[in-house]
Amino acid sequence: MQLKLFIVTIVLQYLATAAAYYKTKPNFVQTCLKSDPDFEDCSKVAVQQLFNALGPGLPEIDLPPIDPLNIPKIRILQGDGPVNVNAALDNVVVTGFGHTEVLLSQVDDKTYDFYTKVRVPKIRIEGIYDLKGKILLIPLVGSGRCWFEPSNMTIDIVSDVKLYEKDGFPFFNVTKVHVKYNIGGLKLHMSNLFDGISSLEDSTNAYLNANWRPVSESLRPILSKTIEDILLGFMRQIFHNLPANFMIEDVKTHLLNKKAID
Ligand SMILES: *[C@@H]1O[C@H](CO)[C@@H](O)[C@H](O)[C@H]1NC(C)=O
Ligand SMILES: *[C@@H]1O[C@H](CO)[C@@H](O)[C@H](O)[C@H]1NC(C)=O
Repeated sequence: MQLKLFIVTIVLQYLATAAAYYKTKPNFVQTCLKSDPDFEDCSKVAVQQLFNALGPGLPEIDLPPIDPLNIPKIRILQGDGPVNVNAALDNVVVTGFGHTEVLLSQVDDKTYDFYTKVRVPKIRIEGIYDLKGKILLIPLVGSGRCWFEPSNMTIDIVSDVKLYEKDGFPFFNVTKVHVKYNIGGLKLHMSNLFDGISSLEDSTNAYLNANWRPVSESLRPILSKTIEDILLGFMRQIFHNLPANFMIEDVKTHLLNKKAID
């Protein structure tokens, strides 16, 4: 297996300004106790409520809506392998994350790292693409409108966190997000492929749709990185603004400044 090099650059819309954090518990936050034997059930409901609140956005902490999610720019550069692309996606609008269903939410006893499993029934990604490269060994060139529709996406999310303190409140610093996802189907369309030679455009789109599984496999590293970057941006913004003890009342603050490792 050769090593595939790829670079994904994403420009998100929200501001990295230090927002005024929540000093009292907002009503969309459900508090759980880590010591409660039913913590997992409680935390699943709590994370679901958080996702529901994120749909329309939380302007008070500078968080834009996640449904629709606007991403001004995604740049992709990937070298060798079945996918060899130099692509740009502009004015990207992603719909569907407002219907995220939380399947599981666990929190590590020692490190507080989060393990979350979610399902999104239908996602639609629309934008303006500019592409030069190969997917499944087919050379593709073009620019124009495009859309992608992954269905029944399940995402396993592992988030590494570190506790820190601000004004006497404990907070989670989300330092890394790792995702693994599966999809049940993928439909896509790229307009103006090969500068609009319509017979080629139609047959290529038909071929990519008929072979959606290898297409989606070949895009996996790019998509995983894109999802990780978007989630990391959102989670950092949320958890820098929401004290950890509002979510986990008995969070062990002795972990501050020295994360347990094993
Ligand atoms: C969605 O995918 C999961 C596994 O990834 C599967 O168990 C489930 O049946 C699928 N649901 C639908 C509606 O296709
Ligand atoms: C959060 O973690 C990152 C990466 O480890 C670090 O650079 C940053 O200073 C941390 N922020 C806070 C507020 O602790």
